[in-house]
Amino acid sequence: MAKIKTQYVCQQCGRAVARPLGRCPQCGGWNTMVEETIASPAARRPAPGSLLPHAPKRFSEIDGDPDERLPLPLEEFSRVLGGGIVPGSVVLIGGDPGIGKSTLLLQTALLLAEDGPILYVSGEESERQIKSRASRLAGEARLPESLYLLTETDLHAILQHIEALAPRLVIIDSIQAVSLPDVESSAGSITQVRESAARLQAMAKASGVAVFLVGHVTKEGSIAGPRVLEHIVDTVLYLEGDAFHAYRLLRSVKNRFGATTEVGVFEMQPFGLVEVPNPSEVFLAERVVNAPGSAVAVTIEGTRPLLVEIQGLTSPTSFGHPRRTANGVDLNRLLLTVAVLTRRVGLGLSEQDVFVNVVGGLKVSEPAADLAVAAAVASSMRDLAVPADLACIGEVGLSGELRTVAQVTARLKEAAKLGFRRVLIPQATRQEDDWPAALQILPVRSLREALSMLWPHT
Ligand code: TYD
Ligand code: MG
Repeated sequence: MAKIKTQYVCQQCGRAVARPLGRCPQCGGWNTMVEETIASPAARRPAPGSLLPHAPKRFSEIDGDPDERLPLPLEEFSRVLGGGIVPGSVVLIGGDPGIGKSTLLLQTALLLAEDGPILYVSGEESERQIKSRASRLAGEARLPESLYLLTETDLHAILQHIEALAPRLVIIDSIQAVSLPDVESSAGSITQVRESAARLQAMAKASGVAVFLVGHVTKEGSIAGPRVLEHIVDTVLYLEGDAFHAYRLLRSVKNRFGATTEVGVFEMQPFGLVEVPNPSEVFLAERVVNAPGSAVAVTIEGTRPLLVEIQGLTSPTSFGHPRRTANGVDLNRLLLTVAVLTRRVGLGLSEQDVFVNVVGGLKVSEPAADLAVAAAVASSMRDLAVPADLACIGEVGLSGELRTVAQVTARLKEAAKLGFRRVLIPQATRQEDDWPAALQILPVRSLREALSMLWPHT
């Protein structure tokens, strides 16, 4: 009989302690510790003398092609994964409810099922709901014979079906919906989520079946059973975007088989997610040229440069403290940029509300966008437009200096490709031979110098 032990696990960071605490000792979150029961490790250890499941092997004896991948016809998805699906790998796809996780994975299943069995396990929706979505996604094409659906939440049963069917890929939608009957806590709890993921990981490694796990992100922004899942699985992807915009970004934050911070861009359409191969063009499409309060930043998402429009608006504070609102950029970076504009450039922002928005629902986390944020805010404040053919690259430092950023050449090439003629870059950037000749490069030392280059008469 397994011994039962109680522990308290933080829902935010996954830290486990033996006593009930009001505040997590690791992340400092209040009331985040929840009670969980776990079977003691002794119960899981194999009995002494039982056959050891794995014996040491010579490297030369290990077979299988390490570079083998299931090709994925969705190019954007494939790139984020590092070039296709690795057999035996477990990929976690997180995101807010309703963002399109089920849609993306069902689409993938439809495309891959042509070449061998794929099992889609849903613990959340009915067979009919899923079939009707699949028919819509397939359009004219008939549903592939080798695509299987299982609506089941008992992970033991699911594992048995996987063994019997031997699919190439299993999709579990979602990891919060499945549970192990031998683990004594409810579905969706940290213990269940962690144990279920670990069991699936073991199955995947032993059988070579690839697994996609859907994980819902909770209000606090962590996949329920949060960080605990991230180190069990091989790859963690997040599907992001907001409900009011059609664009979705698929971002990799951990990848044992490829680069991290890679990003794929999709657009949600009535018949599923459609790849956006030229995102810069799309994100700049609605730009109103020569209007004050707009600047173009050249950011790098993963390995790919992306041009985005940053909008700034200043408006006199009507009462109390001036407000600063950041949509798509980090609020702390905006506060810093506003402080530098006030102290080092002399812009009178202390009685102005400042709003910054990244167009298209994108999130830009790179400091390289600082200069564009500052230019957009200053442009609104002075009511003067940033020239339409000019893009901005640079991180703003506390003394108002512009600091160099990585991969300037790739950024310049993207700007040139989209027809920009001039680019502001930090002075200290080392020049490369392959900078696009069509671009006028404007090196500037400080934010003040950049702004006087934009508007010489102010
Ligand atoms: P869904 O994949 O169910 O989200 P998740 O699994 O992340 O919770 O997507 C839900 C949203 O996507 C829903 O609001 C409807 C929309 N949608 C489309 O716009 N087009 C489509 O073809 C599909 C299937 C969904
Ligand atoms: Mg879903």
